[in-house]
Amino acid sequence: MVASILILGGTTEATALAQAMAERGQPAVLSLAGRVARPKPQPIATRVGGFGGVAGLVDYLRANRISHVVDATHPFAATMSAHAVAACAAVGVPLAALTRPPWTPGPGDRWHRVADMDAAVAALAGPPRRVMAAVGRMHLERFAAQPQHFYLLRLVDPPAAPLPLPHAHVLVSRGPFTQAGDSALMRDHRIDLVVSKNAGGTGARAKIDAARALSLPVVMVDRPALPARTELASVQAVIDWLAHTQADLGV
Ligand SMILES: NC(=O)c1ccc[n+]([C@@H]2O[C@H](COP(=O)([O-])OP(=O)(O)OC[C@H]3O[C@@H](n4cnc5c(N)ncnc54)[C@H](OP(=O)(O)O)[C@@H]3O)[C@@H](O)[C@H]2O)c1
Repeated sequence: MVASILILGGTTEATALAQAMAERGQPAVLSLAGRVARPKPQPIATRVGGFGGVAGLVDYLRANRISHVVDATHPFAATMSAHAVAACAAVGVPLAALTRPPWTPGPGDRWHRVADMDAAVAALAGPPRRVMAAVGRMHLERFAAQPQHFYLLRLVDPPAAPLPLPHAHVLVSRGPFTQAGDSALMRDHRIDLVVSKNAGGTGARAKIDAARALSLPVVMVDRPALPARTELASVQAVIDWLAHTQADLGV
C-alpha cells in the first residue's frame, strides 16, 4: 500500500475513487475547489479551496507527504489539471488523470461543434431563440453578449447575484437527470437549442440524449487542450496504477 494519495475532485468519478480508497483502507485526501455551497458528503477526508497556484500545490504535496496524485477533475477544469502536471513534475510525484472519453455524435445528433465557450456564445448570434445553456455558473457572464435569447439554466446552487441575462429561468438541481426528464423539461420550456460542454461520462449525458430524441440542435463545446499525462479510464485502472507506480520522492 502506498502512502497518502491526493485526489483532485469535484466529479462523480472522483467520488467513486474516494469510495474505493475508503473501502481499501488506503489513506487519501479529496480536494475540492469550493465552488459548490454544500458539497456531497464524501467517504474520505476532504480539503476545500485552491492551493495557490503551482507553487502552493508543490508546498502542499511536500508538507503532506503525498505519494501519488490522481487528477479526477472535470475535463474543463484545465487550469487545475495543468497545475497538477507542473507541480507533480517539480516534486517527482507520479500523476495520473482519471478521465472519461468525450461524447461523440451518433445518428440523429445535430451537433455544431465549437472550440470554446466564446465560440459557443458567437454561435448564438441571430434572432431570439429558446436556449438551454448547460454550461455552469462560471460562464454565464459571457452569454450576456447575446441577450436576445431566453435561457433555461440549470445550476447546482441558487445564483448569488442577479443574472446578467434579461430573459432567463433558473432551475436549481444537481441531478441525477434522465433523458425522459430532460425531454419533458425541454418541451415544457419550448427549447429550440441546447448549449453543452463535451463533458463525457454518464452524469451529464441526459440532456444530449434528450436533444437527439427531440431533434434539437446542440452547440457542443470541445474540451480544452491539456498537457500530456498518464490517462486512466476506470477506478480499477487507478488502483492498478497505484500498486505499480513508485514515487520518486524527494518529499
Ligand atoms: N469546469 C467545469 O465545467 C466543471 C464541471 C463540474 C465540476 N467541476 C469541478 O469544479 C472545480 C473547479 O472547476 P474549474 O473549471 O473552475 O477549475 P479550473 O478553472 O481548472 O481551476 C481554477 C482554480 O481553482 C482551483 N481548483 C480547481 N479545482 C480544484 C480542486 N479540485 N481542488 C483545489 N483547488 C481547485 C485551483 O486554484 P489554485 O490555483 O489556487 O490552486 C485552480 O487554479 C473542479 O474541481 C472541477 O472538477 C468543474
